[in-house]
Amino acid sequence: MLSIRTLLVLSGLFHCCIPGLALNYDRFLCQYPTSDPLEGCPPNTLLVGPSSQANFTSIQSAVLSIPNDTTPYTILILPGNYSEQINVTRVGPLTLLGQTLEPTSRAQNAVAVYWAAVAGTGDNAYTSTLTIAPTLNASLTGSGPDGNPVPAGTPFGNTDFRIYNIDFVNDYAPYSDGPSLAVSVSYANTGFYYCGFYSYQDTVYIGKLGNAYFYESEVAGQTDFFYGFGTAWVQSSLVTLRGCGGGITAWKGTNTTFENKYGVYIHDSVVMKANSSLEIEGQCALGRPWNSQMRAIFANNYLDDSIRPSGYIPWESDTSRIDFNTTMAEYGDFGPGFNLTGRIEGNITLLMTEEEYEPYDRVEKVFQFPFNGTYGNVAWIDFAPSRP
Ligand SMILES: *[C@@H]1O[C@H](CO)[C@@H](O)[C@H](O)[C@H]1NC(C)=O
Ligand SMILES: *[C@@H]1O[C@H](CO)[C@@H](O)[C@H](O)[C@H]1NC(C)=O
Ligand SMILES: *[C@@H]1O[C@H](CO)[C@@H](O)[C@H](O)[C@H]1NC(C)=O
Ligand SMILES: *[C@@H]1O[C@H](CO)[C@@H](O)[C@H](O)[C@H]1NC(C)=O
Ligand SMILES: *[C@@H]1O[C@H](CO)[C@@H](O)[C@H](O)[C@H]1NC(C)=O
Ligand SMILES: *[C@@H]1O[C@H](CO)[C@@H](O)[C@H](O)[C@H]1NC(C)=O
Ligand SMILES: *[C@@H]1O[C@H](CO)[C@@H](O)[C@H](O)[C@H]1NC(C)=O
Ligand SMILES: *[C@@H]1O[C@H](CO)[C@@H](O)[C@H](O)[C@H]1NC(C)=O
Ligand SMILES: *[C@@H]1O[C@H](CO)[C@@H](O)[C@H](O)[C@H]1NC(C)=O
Ligand SMILES: *[C@@H]1O[C@H](CO)[C@@H](O)[C@H](O)[C@H]1NC(C)=O
Ligand SMILES: *[C@@H]1O[C@H](CO)[C@@H](O)[C@H](O)[C@H]1NC(C)=O
Repeated sequence: MLSIRTLLVLSGLFHCCIPGLALNYDRFLCQYPTSDPLEGCPPNTLLVGPSSQANFTSIQSAVLSIPNDTTPYTILILPGNYSEQINVTRVGPLTLLGQTLEPTSRAQNAVAVYWAAVAGTGDNAYTSTLTIAPTLNASLTGSGPDGNPVPAGTPFGNTDFRIYNIDFVNDYAPYSDGPSLAVSVSYANTGFYYCGFYSYQDTVYIGKLGNAYFYESEVAGQTDFFYGFGTAWVQSSLVTLRGCGGGITAWKGTNTTFENKYGVYIHDSVVMKANSSLEIEGQCALGRPWNSQMRAIFANNYLDDSIRPSGYIPWESDTSRIDFNTTMAEYGDFGPGFNLTGRIEGNITLLMTEEEYEPYDRVEKVFQFPFNGTYGNVAWIDFAPSRP
């Protein structure tokens, strides 16, 4: 006796499965516009959209309706521009899907979330378009070398949060005018596939115990636009320069009782200016040390001519923040922005040998379980998002 699922697989209708997630469903069918928008979606899928057939008209109201338990939930969002801030505190798996004709192409995204805020005298956390963190305290940036002291005993938040085909914009100002976050992740595991994140300053914040994986996504900014304390891996994506300020990356390391590899890792991606009218040749820095334990590695990326010859830079001209614990590195980068003479003369960018790079060459080697330093916390990553 064949199960319904086996029949569907045999008939080719069920092209199956988001790996790792305890849900067998056809993401492409769920995201594809059909007369019943929820066709192909897993159980516990909520529909957000402007029309009366939807369960909710805002994404945040759908998020708030979901219980804080370990049952997987999905939110399917109909095309539109949503103007709201989204905060996710729940622990259980949650996937946000943008409805689209092309679930493997960011360029065709039809769902965008807009917010406009700048930090001013308040914490950066309040500005973000999207936040995934169990508590406000876990998401606060704070100040000083180790930032906001998250209260001891704060539990880890979402263990498996994913988004496909949605753009997030913080359009407070069309230039760097203070921290304006598009996404903020703390005490949570998060994966972003075919997404876009657009701001000018501090676009992406991966805070304490934040784990974030970006795949075929775009991150655009001008100043320190990947920053944080946690672990971020950017794979096969587009890093768009909308000007040069600070560095592309600015990270703070943390002293832990176990070894950690907190840092930002940008792999097999393209780093280039937003358009040809920007005159920034040789001006943008790969990064600068937010504290002296900064760790950033750009590996196997194409760099356009916007990148400055030295690669990385000191924090400020009178405050270098560079010591033997600072890792500002590259491995295998190429393109007009990779100036070998400039890198060597600058004496600030570590050009890693194969041996130095090896401990960082796969996601399994950098993403850790919270609180104990064990590597291999990757069950929340979709390694085959383009599989039909
Ligand atoms: C959401 O709407 C669908 C119909 O579009 C309905 O079948 C489903 O029960 C609704 N879910 C909730 C939680 O209201
Ligand atoms: C959600 O549940 C977890 C685990 O039970 C708990 O630690 C946490 O405080 C809850 N979060 C919220 C926002 O209620
Ligand atoms: C959303 O906004 C963009 C740019 O402002 C616009 O091109 C697009 O048509 C809007 N989409 C919808 C569904 O309104
Ligand atoms: C999200 O959290 C921030 C920080 O606590 C808060 O300022 C904002 O109002 C929250 N937004 C929503 C929609 O809950
Ligand atoms: C944040 O943490 C501080 C220090 O532990 C505490 O005083 C404050 O009440 C916390 N705030 C919230 C909203 O829980
Ligand atoms: C080029 O990009 C910059 C930065 O995003 C923007 O301000 C400017 O309007 C863009 N110019 C054109 C011609 O698109
Ligand atoms: C880590 O510990 C060293 C040595 O005690 C100290 O100099 C440094 O400031 C600490 N870094 C952070 C981020 O706490
Ligand atoms: C350098 O890093 C090591 C290992 O994380 C740490 O024990 C030490 O305190 C750090 N020293 C400084 C000056 O940051
Ligand atoms: C490469 O860097 C060197 C040293 O800083 C500089 O003299 C040279 O002009 C740079 N080349 C290009 C193409 O930018
Ligand atoms: C800077 O120069 C010193 C002395 O030659 C060398 O030991 C060090 O590795 C260089 N640092 C970088 C990042 O190239
Ligand atoms: C670390 O925590 C994870 C998740 O809780 C667990 O699977 C792993 O076994 C722990 N490792 C150690 C050495 O305790």
